[in-house]
Amino acid sequence: MHEQDSPLKLDSTLKQDSTLNEFYEDVVRGLSQSQKTLSPKYFYDAQGSRYFDQICQLPEYYPYRTELKLLPTVARELNSYFQQQAIDELNVVEFGAGSLHKIKPLLEHIPAIRHFTAIDISGEHLDNACQELQKLFPDLDIQAVQGDFTQPVSLHSSQATRLGFFPGSTIGNLTPEEAVEFLRSARQTLGTGSYMLLGVDSKKDTSILHQAYNDSQGITALFNKNILQRINRELGADFELSNFEHQAVYNSAKGRIEMHLRSTSDQKVQIGDNSFTFKQDESIHTENSYKYTTEEFSQLSQGAGWVTEEWWLADNNMFAVTLLRC
Ligand SMILES: C[S@@+](CC[C@H](N)C(=O)[O-])C[C@H]1O[C@@H](n2cnc3c(N)ncnc32)[C@H](O)[C@@H]1O
Repeated sequence: MHEQDSPLKLDSTLKQDSTLNEFYEDVVRGLSQSQKTLSPKYFYDAQGSRYFDQICQLPEYYPYRTELKLLPTVARELNSYFQQQAIDELNVVEFGAGSLHKIKPLLEHIPAIRHFTAIDISGEHLDNACQELQKLFPDLDIQAVQGDFTQPVSLHSSQATRLGFFPGSTIGNLTPEEAVEFLRSARQTLGTGSYMLLGVDSKKDTSILHQAYNDSQGITALFNKNILQRINRELGADFELSNFEHQAVYNSAKGRIEMHLRSTSDQKVQIGDNSFTFKQDESIHTENSYKYTTEEFSQLSQGAGWVTEEWWLADNNMFAVTLLRC
């Protein structure tokens, strides 16, 4: 048993090392730009995933509850649609699956879903969520994939029709160019004859957006600052968290919420051999959250080779879900 165990341990150590190297290189590259940036995918260690779950429960954060309320209707209509298409076996492939709350209405209303592939960068959180889901749906074939959804993913081969699932307006964290690139790569991963169900956040009153990303309990601020905590812990940096302030502003020209961490003083931060200077008020840009009209998004997905089949709009167009066909 020990003889079999050791190569596995070596592989996982190597994987951890290369993941850490990539993290280090991305952080150094991002902080070396004139507008310092960090990729939002690094928010999501186990603690970041827990903060995101707390954000979903905030009264100001409408995207989570609005989409979740819409999904049973979407799922019932999808069930009829797939029956009409004589599709009787589906593999749902969820990108950025998180705590797996959004797959449940689909599983409850679409019996043809026999397989579920959950992809997320936050591996420990994903494994726990998959174990919980398996208890609720013991017959479901679940594949958990820890990885970056912007990279190609190899799926178990089966006859099942593939339905990509990308809820939570996570696509809004990508620039429109990155979103097209993602949709092209997802088309290749899922293959011809597949479908994609996507949650898209709509353009709306700026004050609603502002409140959603600047909650009164300060959870979004903790989530934003967690990226610095993670860099300190995993890369041995010396960010002083109290010297940075959470900021979220709507950039109407670009149609996106921008999250930043603003330096409250002139300061210097050390990460390995690299030192980074911050002027007072200089910011690190940590996340975008693009908002789209249905027309804008249909055009974007068409550019990536998908055909729009349907739109569902929730609560006065607060949030939208679309079905695409490959
Ligand atoms: C905004 S949350 C949405 C979670 C869930 N799908 C929902 O709708 O509630 C984004 C999720 O995507 C994951 N994630 C972010 N960037 C990722 C990436 N590049 N590759 C894989 N997963 C990623 C995060 O860990 C997180 O679970």
